[in-house]
Amino acid sequence: MKISFNNSSLVELGCDLLAVAAFEGKTGTVEAFNTLDKSLDGLLSSMATEEGFGAKEGEKLLLHTHGRLASSRILVVGLGKREDFDIAESRRYGAAVAETAGACKAQKLAATLPPVDSAAQTRAAQFFVEGLLLANYRFDRYMSEESRKPVPLNTIELWVEDEESRKAPSPICLARAQLIAEATSLARDLINEPAGSLTPVRLSQIAQDMAKEKGLECKILGPKECEKLGMNLFLAVSQGSVHEPRLIHLTYRPKGKDKPKKSYVWVGKGVTFDSGGLSLKPSASMLDMKGDMSGAAVVLGAISALSSLGVQAEVHAIIAATENMISGSAYKLGDVITGMNGKSVEIVNTDAEGRLTLADALAYAEKLKPDELLDVATLTGACMVALGPHMAGIMGNDRALVERLIATARRVGEDVWGLPLPTKLRQQLKTPMADMKNCGERWGGALTAGLFLKEFVTMPWVHMDIAGPALADKADGHISKGGTGFGVSTLIEYVSSRDGSQ
Ligand code: BES
Ligand code: MN
Ligand code: ZN
Repeated sequence: MKISFNNSSLVELGCDLLAVAAFEGKTGTVEAFNTLDKSLDGLLSSMATEEGFGAKEGEKLLLHTHGRLASSRILVVGLGKREDFDIAESRRYGAAVAETAGACKAQKLAATLPPVDSAAQTRAAQFFVEGLLLANYRFDRYMSEESRKPVPLNTIELWVEDEESRKAPSPICLARAQLIAEATSLARDLINEPAGSLTPVRLSQIAQDMAKEKGLECKILGPKECEKLGMNLFLAVSQGSVHEPRLIHLTYRPKGKDKPKKSYVWVGKGVTFDSGGLSLKPSASMLDMKGDMSGAAVVLGAISALSSLGVQAEVHAIIAATENMISGSAYKLGDVITGMNGKSVEIVNTDAEGRLTLADALAYAEKLKPDELLDVATLTGACMVALGPHMAGIMGNDRALVERLIATARRVGEDVWGLPLPTKLRQQLKTPMADMKNCGERWGGALTAGLFLKEFVTMPWVHMDIAGPALADKADGHISKGGTGFGVSTLIEYVSSRDGSQ
């Protein structure tokens, strides 16, 4: 797909589809079309009035131009009120364009950027292209040729007004958008892949191949090596499975002789299937559990983009990949297990397995002595109860770090909310059998899960519970049904904005 900026005359630009975005004006009108072409503005205004188009958020108007413009169709997309518009919502505009382009089988596409001020144009262009590419995402590798919906190949011209009034955004933002869309699609593919084929070993092979392609270091540990390190909590979870666990450790190091200023470790929950173990899940709750490695998919997707983006920080991705299965060898309720950092845990629910795998992964991560530690995990249903299905919960032991991550997520349009780690709830994890048990009472389940993880870290750490937004039950613009890749944008943005590589 070829994507470029163009600032020749919009009227003469011959495309299959010309997309224009507009803000909502006062009661049922459009604020302005601002195409810098008086006759085109006039034409669009009269079309809008005639069709009762008011540029409300998500409102679309598609018209055939019948030769009045060089382009055969024109699509007007409403962005809602200017004051309510967030730059990251340009993704929605991109997705709306992709949808219409697909429906009318457009090959060649032109689009104006949202009419935001010039400082915001670059970001708007990036988000627009991300939305467009991500809306075209399909997971159809298991469909026969005939059932596959064709995805049209497009040439995309992003139209920019003349240089005098606006500086053309740097094309770097287009490459950046393509890399982010690619990383997100990789995460989606991994999440959507059935657990029957995406076993821990398979996941480690994919990570290895990806590392080779992207110039990352890759270390894979099997059960023997994990045992030597004392990762008994992780191994306990894997005990019931016929598929061996793998600890995956990828490292991105920026090129150049200077030691990177910052180092980060990202830990992703990599439970390739969560049956609940002996505390077996009911069938309906098990259905989505091939997606219990979404955290792993997100850290893999994000780290895959760093070399092409030239990020200047050192970043590690750690995944304790395992299944949580039921069998004669499965770990049992009442078992007491000591993890890598020496703390003992009484298992009172085998379905609270994610925190056990993360506990050892975090202990492993701490040995790398990073400046900051972040984990991403589909950890608790309770987090979905608290925040709904589209928002991630953020917790941590370092207030400033938590705030930075929240601000980063907001900037890239990923919805997150800070949750507390109340010391009082730590009592729920007390047991006379061990240093702690692996789950507390029902209320505040996302917080006690966070408090459990906190026991395994001593460094600045932040935890992102993505149980809700990791999967979507229906497609919505740039968000596809199934794995969403939620978190990839935030992670990439975090390391590229903090190290000055942008
Ligand atoms: N993988 C689940 C959490 C989950 C639930 C993710 C729904 C996505 C959608 C996790 O391993 C789990 O089973 N958590 C339990 C914890 C409980 C046993 C303390 C839960 O949320 O019910
Ligand atoms: Mn579970
Ligand atoms: Zn789980």
